[in-house]
Amino acid sequence: MGSPAKREMHLGYMYWLNGTHWGGWRLPEAPTANAFELDYAAKAAKLVEDAKFDFFFLGDTLPGDIYAEHWGTTHNAGRLEPFTLASQLALQTSKIGLVVTAHPTYYEPYILARLTASLDHLSKGRLSWNVVLGASDLAAQNFSLPDLGGERRYARADEFIRVIRLLWDSIEDGAYLQDKKSGQYLDPTKIHRLAHKGEFFQVAGTLPMPRPPQGQIPLLYAGASELSRELTARHCELNFTGPGTIEDSIAFNTDVRERARRIHGRDVPIFFLPGISPIIGDDRADAVDIFERLNAGLPLDDDPVDGDKDEQFWSSDAWAAIQQAPRGGLPLGVRSLRSLSERIGVDLRAGGLDAVITAETASRFNEFGQSLLGAVATRTDRTVERGTVRAGDLLRNSIGGGFPQVIGSAQDVADRLIEWFDRGAAEGFNINSPYMWDQLERFTSRVVPILRDKGVFRTDYTADTFRGHFGLEVPPNRFATDS
Ligand SMILES: Cc1cc2nc3c(=O)[nH]c(=O)nc-3n(C[C@H](O)[C@H](O)[C@H](O)COP(=O)(O)O)c2cc1C
Repeated sequence: MGSPAKREMHLGYMYWLNGTHWGGWRLPEAPTANAFELDYAAKAAKLVEDAKFDFFFLGDTLPGDIYAEHWGTTHNAGRLEPFTLASQLALQTSKIGLVVTAHPTYYEPYILARLTASLDHLSKGRLSWNVVLGASDLAAQNFSLPDLGGERRYARADEFIRVIRLLWDSIEDGAYLQDKKSGQYLDPTKIHRLAHKGEFFQVAGTLPMPRPPQGQIPLLYAGASELSRELTARHCELNFTGPGTIEDSIAFNTDVRERARRIHGRDVPIFFLPGISPIIGDDRADAVDIFERLNAGLPLDDDPVDGDKDEQFWSSDAWAAIQQAPRGGLPLGVRSLRSLSERIGVDLRAGGLDAVITAETASRFNEFGQSLLGAVATRTDRTVERGTVRAGDLLRNSIGGGFPQVIGSAQDVADRLIEWFDRGAAEGFNINSPYMWDQLERFTSRVVPILRDKGVFRTDYTADTFRGHFGLEVPPNRFATDS
């Protein structure tokens, strides 16, 4: 018997046109041209394939109000349709997995089954589907839907996934006899009609192509609520939610895996690859400098001190909802010292953005204010004790949402990834760049070699499919009769 297979880190790259820091696109070195051309996405995909990443991830959010939303999430400023783009990228690459995002609310299972199965064939088994259920009633109204359907969209997604899995299996291997002698093209015993009649879908037929090379296309999901945990436990191979601490991640992963096994009888590995946004400098000070240049690009309100809201706004439901937004981030209109003062419980307007926060002022901050001071210290080494925290630092650090950032040298970033990996908080990471292209190139050219030296990341591909990169077998066909 050989020794047990060595545990290996998995890496995905989350592709967004401008990267993920909302001020990133404003850096002089960040590109603004050609982002909607194939060469741009292909450059990113080839970079990470050369670095032997497991997959290239095409996220997708359909904005409700593209102009308003792009201030908060520059990736909402537009993107090419992911299936069309992925089919081109399949031609430009040969090994790397391709993750395509689709929201079940906006598709029929039969259409998505055809799209995904076709792409799995065209890419020779490299596809994964990122199931998303993001909430935007405005986006739903582009699809003749009055709204998203509230929590029922999860029930719809559950049936959707069960149907799509049946469709992928609906033609068994060996069904295409193509027997010239007998004239029999198809074997009718290997073709299955679904006759599915459910709460949301009625699907009678068969997917008209051979079963996808991966049999069942792997599913990826992000989300940590009760409904999201259930969806991952029931159906998914990967989750990239990423709670903020190692302890929380271990607890989350354990909970989802236990549900999968105990409640749903799924004895399969589920991989947890939290999203992470490294900011890589020559050393820590250089990385902090890059981070602060990024933050300086965050658009503030026209009047960054007093803002432009009237007094009633600060006691409105709209303001309460903004503060509770789960993925954080302040929209334009509440990016001023006025809104910051509301949040930390101390009026900081008098000194303007450059005023240094004294120990006396900081001592009056509420819990949110104290945690913000902690975040600023972790990210930038600015502390009240040293007299280096300005009101503007607090404001800018309170605006951005998104993925946890790791700010440091390549060694610092690698150390952090290895710590999470070694302690079992993650099997790998869904890496994103704060802006294009420098940070992506720094990750592949500086961090990846350190991971290899430590023996945790592959030096070359040992498989050609998405499942293969994760060591996942092609599952048996649930309709198969001849085994
Ligand atoms: C990291 C992350 C990325 C997401 N990306 C998208 C997306 O691109 N499109 C989308 O419609 N929803 C997206 N979502 C929303 C999820 O699909 C899901 O609706 C949400 O996570 C539910 O969150 P909860 O279970 O934590 O409440 C994303 C969620 C997370 C956490």
